[in-house]
Amino acid sequence: MKVLDADCTKGFMQLSEDGWQHNYHERNGGNLSYRMKPEEVEAVREEFTYTREWKEIGASVPTLAGEHFMVTGSGKFFQNVTRHPEDSFCITEIDETGTKYRIVWGLVNGGRPTSEFPSHLMNHAVKKRVTDGRFRVIYHAHPVNVIALSFILPNDGIVWTRELWESMTECPIIFSEGVGVLPWMVPGGADIAVRTSELMETYNVAIWAHHGMFCAGDTFDNTFGLFHTVEKAAEILLKVLSVTKEKRQTITPENFRQLQTDPTFSSQFPVTLDEKFLYEKK
Ligand code: 13P
Ligand code: ZN
Repeated sequence: MKVLDADCTKGFMQLSEDGWQHNYHERNGGNLSYRMKPEEVEAVREEFTYTREWKEIGASVPTLAGEHFMVTGSGKFFQNVTRHPEDSFCITEIDETGTKYRIVWGLVNGGRPTSEFPSHLMNHAVKKRVTDGRFRVIYHAHPVNVIALSFILPNDGIVWTRELWESMTECPIIFSEGVGVLPWMVPGGADIAVRTSELMETYNVAIWAHHGMFCAGDTFDNTFGLFHTVEKAAEILLKVLSVTKEKRQTITPENFRQLQTDPTFSSQFPVTLDEKFLYEKK
């Protein structure tokens, strides 16, 4: 089978196009990676070539040895993922030590995987372990409202989680574990990769102040849906804060607890919310 005919490739391209249409990607902003299933690799292996050299990842991910990742190219524009797929992304193979990769398909005009490849792979390593291999997608982009909020809210995941949950009733259902936040850091390196992967032990969302957001998920739809939900909640909060510093009313800690105890609701949407997010506000 051709790589471009595979369902996983179609999902990868659809998410990229959706991200572009939602204004999450200016120029080359953002990156996407997908840990391919063994059967997906076998189905398209006929198109692989093994002539390109092994390169250093810049991180050590031994639990990903031998895995194949579909990943966007550094400097490539998201709107071109669907228009010029072979030029915009690639499939990479990880070596048996988990320190090197080689490109086996794509990036036909040269290039390398995203500069955030260390962060992506370290996040994948954490998510593969904590979800027993279920999570396969890592998505990073530059959404306007999340970035804007990072100039207003403290760099504190507990505060961010509570404020985002209050912004839209579905939020505590979609990201009940909360969100993690990092202060501004130099992008593209090992330091930010380590710090982000630490957050991914607990959360599926990591916010990089003044830069953007990382989301992890099992499918392309769920990962994009999570990203979209957080960004929409950020937009609502920003609109409220643009009008008033004092909310007249909001979703209260007691309301959040009702989500967990209401028999009809909780039988359909069972959710456990950590009390640390339900603190009393001064
Ligand atoms: P790349 O073009 O290397 O993927 O970088 C874009 C980006 O968003 C860096 O954080
Ligand atoms: Zn970025």
